[in-house]
Amino acid sequence: MDKFVISGGEALSGEIPISGSKNAALPALAAALLTDEPVTLRRIPRVRDIRTMQRLLVDIGTRTEGEGEIIRLHTPEIVCPEAPYELVKTMRASSLVLGPLVARSGRARVSLPGGCAIGARPINLHIFGLEQLGAHIQQAHGYIEAEASDGLRGATVHFDRITVTGTEDLMMAAVLAKGETVLRNAAREPEVADLAELLIAMGAKIEGAGTSTIRIQGVEKLGGAEHTIIPDRIEAGTFLIAGAITGGEVTITGCNQEHVGALVAKLEQAGVEVARMDTTALRVRSNSKKLRSVDMTTEEYPGFATDLQAQYMALMTQAEGIAIVVETIFENRFMHALELARMGANIRIDGRQAIVAGPRQLTGAGVIASDLRASASLVLAALVARGETVIDRVYHIDRGYEKIEAKLASAGAMIRRVE
Ligand code: EPU
Repeated sequence: MDKFVISGGEALSGEIPISGSKNAALPALAAALLTDEPVTLRRIPRVRDIRTMQRLLVDIGTRTEGEGEIIRLHTPEIVCPEAPYELVKTMRASSLVLGPLVARSGRARVSLPGGCAIGARPINLHIFGLEQLGAHIQQAHGYIEAEASDGLRGATVHFDRITVTGTEDLMMAAVLAKGETVLRNAAREPEVADLAELLIAMGAKIEGAGTSTIRIQGVEKLGGAEHTIIPDRIEAGTFLIAGAITGGEVTITGCNQEHVGALVAKLEQAGVEVARMDTTALRVRSNSKKLRSVDMTTEEYPGFATDLQAQYMALMTQAEGIAIVVETIFENRFMHALELARMGANIRIDGRQAIVAGPRQLTGAGVIASDLRASASLVLAALVARGETVIDRVYHIDRGYEKIEAKLASAGAMIRRVE
């Protein structure tokens, strides 16, 4: 198992390019199941979750070509409409094939995901939505079996709570349903809007993606398309925080400024200088001795992303004062706090809130990555810690960050991967 060895104390300086969004690329790959024509996707990040999704699609019947940023997918027919436990347990986003499979082939068998390091994360809302569209769903032996042999019918689906992949799954089911589907209380994340753009290029009729009401007129058939995935706003945010926490000057390029608006607002309140260079570049400059604590509550987009909460907490360990960080999306997303505390952070957890008192001089230690974003926060903390930090189980970080060690090293970080 790989580890990262990081020597802290270097102020980062340089330019870091942003990769395509993992969480936009995953549903885009699943969308290729909706047509028997080829779909070409550009700016695919080379991360482990993408390889896992490709493996799943191949088992279902997709031919995929291209290892790099461009992937061509072609699914002449659905050979096996199934997402097995072995894959779903390593990547919950595998459930994104449920909607497309039922829509295209009238049936799907998808493993229930089981436990997760950051919260329960059930898929009841995906199931509820598909039932509204007329699918018959049964649960047995740890699997969901969905069937709609006469096809899906458009309906109004009002989500009890906002779900990102639930909205995406239902949108993909509805594009081939008969009649109109209205998704209410839909997720407004940029990844949902990006998926809609791809589906529209394939011939789908969708209005309102990116707002909380999405209207879809079902069509008989979808065709092939080419699409470029949006930049990864969580990767972008992580590198902005890397610049800020080390008291350096980091420019991220190829990003979408609007997508990181909530983080930028917090950084500015915390005393970090953020310059909008052109429409796709942002530069942070900070004096790490002058960071101020700022409270933060995670919310659905356009609020502050839960996927940046752990990284933000690392930053707050270096800020003067007390920051209250409230996690509202997942019930167990503070695992990093205990590891940060091992490095010397002063953090108290009280239910869904973490109270971070700073600034504290962190010191390098052996720590364990518990999930993707928690690992990123440990890397950030290690960049300012005195001495050497060894982060174990970096396979978590490899799920969603493309070459993070190379990108950080190019800006002067002392980070290396050891086997
Ligand atoms: N929820 C339910 N029932 C459902 C679906 C969700 O109760 O059927 C709950 C979840 O348990 C959670 C909340 O609703 O408490 C929101 O979950 P959501 O469904 O929005 O999360 P997701 O779609 O499974 C995506 C991202 C996550 C990101 C969340 C929230 C992908 C592939 N994953 O997950 O990304 O944290 O939205 O923004 O898009 C990551 O990249 O590290 C990551 C975890």
